[in-house]
Amino acid sequence: MDTSLDPIVALKSDHGAVRAVLNNLDGYLKKIGSVSSNGLRNNLINQLNEITAFIDKDLEIHFKKEENALFPILGNYIGTETGPIHVMLIEHAQSRELSLEFKSKIKNYPDSKDYNYIVNIGNAFVKLLSEHIDKEEQILFNMADIQLSREEKHGIMEKFLIITSQAA
Ligand SMILES: [Fe+2]
Ligand SMILES: [Fe+2]
Repeated sequence: MDTSLDPIVALKSDHGAVRAVLNNLDGYLKKIGSVSSNGLRNNLINQLNEITAFIDKDLEIHFKKEENALFPILGNYIGTETGPIHVMLIEHAQSRELSLEFKSKIKNYPDSKDYNYIVNIGNAFVKLLSEHIDKEEQILFNMADIQLSREEKHGIMEKFLIITSQAA
């Protein structure tokens, strides 16, 4: 099978991009917590907007690929009401909630000056999402590789392309 047409390879490639952004975010959060100058801290917090733009767009597309293309088909084999897919859906919801909270705290920062709260929410987001993609790669994607037929993988890949083009 041409790996460029394998949805699991495509999702792992998305995860690579997510990991890079989480690393970046982690670096900013550490600096925000440790700098002594308010001006420098303000600049760092302003730069978080770029990262939240990624969360809004690319991460949301990735979640939709899983929720609307992979999970329904894989769910025919392993179920969606309980088990790993159920857990992954709960974690997507938690990730969306944390990102809303994170963006709202960043927006309110000029008034609140509460950078500790921003750092805490950011750290919780990094931890949740890092563990989430590890679990997908170690458990769920292996199940998908074993269960899904070539035709099913092809169908999922076609849905990915539709989801990506609708988001463009
Ligand atoms: Fe996921
Ligand atoms: Fe994922």
